[in-house]
Amino acid sequence: MVESKPVQLAPSILTADFGHLAEQIAAAEAGGADLIHLDVMDGRFVPNITFGTLIVHTVRRLTRLPLDVHLMIAEPERYIAEFAEAGSDTITVHAEATLHLHRAVQQITGLGRRAGIALNPATPNEAVREVLPFVDQVLIMTVNPGFGSQRFIETMTAKIRRMRRMMDELCPLADLQVDGGIYVGNIVDVIYAGANVIVVGSAVFNKTDTPTANLTQLRKAVDEAR
Ligand code: DX5
Ligand code: ZN
Repeated sequence: MVESKPVQLAPSILTADFGHLAEQIAAAEAGGADLIHLDVMDGRFVPNITFGTLIVHTVRRLTRLPLDVHLMIAEPERYIAEFAEAGSDTITVHAEATLHLHRAVQQITGLGRRAGIALNPATPNEAVREVLPFVDQVLIMTVNPGFGSQRFIETMTAKIRRMRRMMDELCPLADLQVDGGIYVGNIVDVIYAGANVIVVGSAVFNKTDTPTANLTQLRKAVDEAR
């Protein structure tokens, strides 16, 4: 078993107040965010449309944190170069969104960016076994992609555990990221299952408390579990 990798918190700006994006990102930084997660959606691969490279360019100027760009778009190979140019540090494509996943991963790494692959809840881990040796990150979706504030799908915890075992064999240095429905009540469970990069959206950007306070609570839960 690879010794445990540091846990990184990646706030997703999907539920942030876009009228005050600079302040919201600064507040997330103050709360100890390690990355900023940007959810790009095209209304075709998922039933929602969010934003494109314009927002990646904007966020690139607002923070020095690494930008973790999650492409929920069909045929992502068409836009990988543009998202790299916009300032993405990690570009994650969905295994279900391209016929040529290995080539898409090669394209991302060829541009000097970290390559991530994402799996929808219904996609078995085995579907990406052959491309694992080439990736920097695997994203297990713990909700059906398209929207924030959804409920965590409980059966994904065992999937996370199985994926970490497969990654220990084929890409031990790669990060295992989880995304969707994570909050202070279940973040420890997914870490114990093997996730080390945790996307948190509505648990950070909400009306209950500030992003700084929410992230501090999440970090406290993580630290107490170590
Ligand atoms: C969903 C996105 C997630 C989402 C997370 O398609 O990929 O990143 O924004 O939001 P929460 O944490 O609210 O489920
Ligand atoms: Zn996401």
